[in-house]
Amino acid sequence: MCGIVAAASKTNVTDILMAGLKHLEYRGYDSAGIAILKNNVLNNYRQKGNVEELGKLLDATANSNIGIAHTRWATHGKPSKENAHPHIANDTIAIVHNGIIENYLDIKNKFLKNYKFLSDTDSEILAHLINHFSKDNEILDAVHLAMAEVQGSYALAVLDKNNPDKIIVARNGSPLLIGLGEEKNFIASDALALIEHTNRFVYLEDGDLATVSSEEVKIYDKNKKNIRRETKKSSLSLNSHSKDGYDHFMLKEIFEQPNAVKSTIENRIINNVVPKEILGPNAAEYLEKFKVVQIIACGTSYHAALVAKHWLERLAGIPCHAEIASEFRYRRHAVQKDTLLICISQSGETADTLSALREIKKEDYYVGTIAVCNVPESSLARECDSTLITHAGPEIGVASTKAFTTQLTALMLLVIVLGKRFEITPDLENSLCMQLKTLPDKIKSTLALDQKIAELAKIFSDKEHALFLGRGSHFPIAREGALKLKEISYIHAEAYAAGELKHGPLAIVDENMPVVAVAPNNVVLEKLKSNLEEVKARGGKLYIFADKKAGFKSDEISQVFEIDAPMNPVAPILFTIPLQLLAYHCAIIKGTNVDMPRNLAKSVTVE
Ligand code: AGP
Repeated sequence: MCGIVAAASKTNVTDILMAGLKHLEYRGYDSAGIAILKNNVLNNYRQKGNVEELGKLLDATANSNIGIAHTRWATHGKPSKENAHPHIANDTIAIVHNGIIENYLDIKNKFLKNYKFLSDTDSEILAHLINHFSKDNEILDAVHLAMAEVQGSYALAVLDKNNPDKIIVARNGSPLLIGLGEEKNFIASDALALIEHTNRFVYLEDGDLATVSSEEVKIYDKNKKNIRRETKKSSLSLNSHSKDGYDHFMLKEIFEQPNAVKSTIENRIINNVVPKEILGPNAAEYLEKFKVVQIIACGTSYHAALVAKHWLERLAGIPCHAEIASEFRYRRHAVQKDTLLICISQSGETADTLSALREIKKEDYYVGTIAVCNVPESSLARECDSTLITHAGPEIGVASTKAFTTQLTALMLLVIVLGKRFEITPDLENSLCMQLKTLPDKIKSTLALDQKIAELAKIFSDKEHALFLGRGSHFPIAREGALKLKEISYIHAEAYAAGELKHGPLAIVDENMPVVAVAPNNVVLEKLKSNLEEVKARGGKLYIFADKKAGFKSDEISQVFEIDAPMNPVAPILFTIPLQLLAYHCAIIKGTNVDMPRNLAKSVTVE
């Protein structure tokens, strides 16, 4: 989704801005731009397409000590040069903006009736509105007054021709941070953009404004009172941006899963016990009180929520609801008193999840909120009572892989902690901890299927549709497999609970419909086998990922891929791996952009 980089320095910043935009590419975008201030003139360079194309517009004269830059992911107005940021008003004010200005038409009518707009974006009004207020006010006051008129979300950086040594920034609902350097300071929507220049960051809070020059950073709260925000040291490294010899980030991230899962359980299992302290100091109160769990999440994280619901109910006997955040947010729901809310999000910046959390916090039915998140400094992590970090490391590929399996790993730890007051006995805890500890090696063995799955992809990649089947806690895994395939290979894929097949989807099964089944050796195995017979009887081609003790054999209709996934609750984590590989290899054969699939963004910061 949209990205911001800006810098003020004693030396040229163009390279810093271009490198920052490159690092933000993984978030997904369709156009890019840079504005620099040189000899009292705002120079604006914008381009539809990628950052490399933008680079071609910049010649040796494109240098300056101050500038703002942006990657845009279209919301209002199609991808085009005119709609790309920065937007400039009156040759004086340049802005880059992430988020959505919900009342931009009202603002146009109220303040900007006689202004000429050059784009179809909501963002452009910000440049004109700030310009409007700057006629009678200092620039910081002008930005403050403008933001007071705005409804919606923004991370904003402003360059003003009349204040050539500073950038003014503002944040509400979209992430924005300030990077601290020596004789230079930076601004970005994502720390990864700046990691080659600094590891010291100040995270702005909603309502904050700041001025950033090469020498100083001043931060103000929503009342324009000067305030201090803590400086945090980031553990991100430049390596996060390297493919480490792999052809794609996605493949690297798939193969990082043994280590990522290992890091997620590290120091959290002590003598086969998961201490409640993994949830931090705020947990004591809600752990004693909660009666029901509500989970909200989107996309892949929602699939993790569905698995967690199975675990909470089956292993711990805790009633649990799981819902897509964007749906939960806009419907009236009957909440039971003493509900514990769990928000799952890789990025911690997903607008749907965040806005649902913010609504929920206004109600007093909830005893506590927990974020299961991969980014410790994210809005979600900061706004929940407790955070359980998944130690996946930065995930660059838009299609989530290691973030998902580490979410499941962290959720199993959470189920153990929450379940102790319910049905998780010391024996069950001991056994679940042992199973978690076997995961890194078991994932490694499952990854050995890579070449076989690459062969399977040759059959699969020319199909237009596919069906994925699973049951119980493996139905969400079938859904995740279908989502992965859709996202990066653009093959239409649907997932069904296998028992539902006969209630409708069986009608589309014929010899052209590949059917992928996830077949662990569990209590519903025999039922699943009957469901698969229904497919065979209709001539459907079956590709079965089965536990090696599940008793499946390949024949002329079905091809079986064996997985060593003993009959235990953590099996869904193992069954995820071959489905990720299948999607990856299909995408490679189809020649799609694996790491940045069309129309998608890594972190979806608009509702
Ligand atoms: C997964 O492959 C997706 N790209 C997407 O569904 C993602 O999981 C979703 O947007 C939620 O993101 P989050 O985990 O950062 O909240």
